[in-house]
Amino acid sequence: MTFELFDPLSSPIFIFDPDHKVLYCNDACVALFEVPRQKLTSGTPCYDLVTFTDPELFVMPKGEKGKDKATKYREVDFKSVNGKTGSVRIAIRPISQLDAQEKLWICYLQDVSLEANLQKKYNQELEKKERFIIQLQATQEQLIQSSKMATIGEFTASISHELNNPLAVLHSCVEDLSSIVKTEPLNKEIASKFIGMIERSTKKIMNLSQHLKSFSHGPLTDIHLVPTSMFDVIDSAMNFTQHLTTKRTIKVINNVSKDLPKIPMDPSLMEQVAVNMIKNAAEAILEANTNKQIEPLIEINGRYQKDLQKVVISFKDNGPGIPPEARKKLFTPFFTTKPIGKGTGLGLSICQAMAVKHGGSLSLDPSSGLGTTFFLTLPVVEIKEQSANEMTLDLAGKFILVIDDEPLIRDILSRYLTEMGCKISEAESGEQALELIAENPPDLVITDIIMHKMSGVDLAKRIRKTNPKTRISFVSGSLNLVGGKLDRALFDSYLTKPFTKNGLQRAIYEAFNKKA
Ligand SMILES: Nc1ncnc2c1ncn2[C@@H]1O[C@H](COP(=O)(O)OP(=O)(O)OP(=O)(O)O)[C@@H](O)[C@H]1O
Ligand SMILES: [Mg+2]
Repeated sequence: MTFELFDPLSSPIFIFDPDHKVLYCNDACVALFEVPRQKLTSGTPCYDLVTFTDPELFVMPKGEKGKDKATKYREVDFKSVNGKTGSVRIAIRPISQLDAQEKLWICYLQDVSLEANLQKKYNQELEKKERFIIQLQATQEQLIQSSKMATIGEFTASISHELNNPLAVLHSCVEDLSSIVKTEPLNKEIASKFIGMIERSTKKIMNLSQHLKSFSHGPLTDIHLVPTSMFDVIDSAMNFTQHLTTKRTIKVINNVSKDLPKIPMDPSLMEQVAVNMIKNAAEAILEANTNKQIEPLIEINGRYQKDLQKVVISFKDNGPGIPPEARKKLFTPFFTTKPIGKGTGLGLSICQAMAVKHGGSLSLDPSSGLGTTFFLTLPVVEIKEQSANEMTLDLAGKFILVIDDEPLIRDILSRYLTEMGCKISEAESGEQALELIAENPPDLVITDIIMHKMSGVDLAKRIRKTNPKTRISFVSGSLNLVGGKLDRALFDSYLTKPFTKNGLQRAIYEAFNKKA
């Protein structure tokens, strides 16, 4: 066979023998490797002249002459003795020569250096972008957290107002009661009047504390969906922004029906959205404040789109509206029309991210009338909610160990648990608890997390090892601790302080019903 037949081919080709010596190479091959023909065909094995990233490339099957027709395909990088580098697509197949006993191989090459380079660059860019997205997500979480903290800071006046009212009531109750009991025996009627007042005030303080804790809790990744009424969310947000709206006599109306289906959401995040929307509207109204004839108004409406299984909440204000050029940039982070130091321009973009995180959206009403309307759309997903009454709890005879270094909390827990028919034991520390558990293992341990000596977490780790059947429920004043940061495998349920009897019942139910 005259190999010169391949000379005019524009694709690089070379032929080698069983010792990998190049017998022939065409001009295109010489041009590809930039190694002179004489050197390529000098009898040196081909892999000594050009190294390829696949060391097995030239290991050929040792079949009989002409029998093995298998073609080997590869895509590899190369470096020639003259320093030329690149990438090639290779096909190697055996050929037989009539006048020769030995088997030869022909190697077809296709220069894919350009493609490979582009692919490499594309991969690098992709990697860079992925890293950037991860960084951006982390920054977004941080921004959300700091924005939440800033909002809490801004509303300290409202918060202390909310706190002072029930505290004042409690204080006067204590004063009145102590002066009454000094002079006369406490009759049932007076006692129940005071109990009512104390109950209402403590409930208010508990709500506020719960609200603050949940508002400040962890990043978006920790979101914990609970079926929640949008009416309650708006109501909380209105309380939160009361200071801003009442000071400037802006009327805020919550028209959201209590009958709207509950929505699975992280209530603290959705409250933050509602707070931001009310805050924006109030700030816009105050900023403009030109037409004194119109009563400043923020109206929040809710509608259930049954066919789409969505709830749409609209935040409508009769402020100055948004000019067309600003409408396009509203949701862009850092877009603000407020003076430096007044607004970060993050409010709307964060709210949008939160809506999306809940499977919904936040958009601006495109029709331009008086004022501004935003739509918050959230999906309705059926979640079977269990009320405390529905939970069938047979606690009679269950043995529960209560651990808290605060005797008052131990007292309350034990009292509630005894009423529920449980057998109780108490420990004031993790160390004491371990001793009691060794003597008589309980069905459930309810433990505080932050204690003077051994922490509830360390205690739980020990119990998981020694008594894997014992259920563990954490009680803590910090939702951050139990909500996000802790290893979920360490506890079966949790309860946040301050707690109610129903809350305790729910925590016990969850602890006993958690799938292992
Ligand atoms: N209800 C509204 N009426 C008129 N303009 C609004 C309204 N809501 C938002 N805007 C405009 O959108 C801009 C961006 O709002 P966004 O909440 O993102 O940031 P900001 O309010 O400026 O800053 P921050 O939220 O940090 O206080 C505002 O500066 C304002 O110009
Ligand atoms: Mg804002």
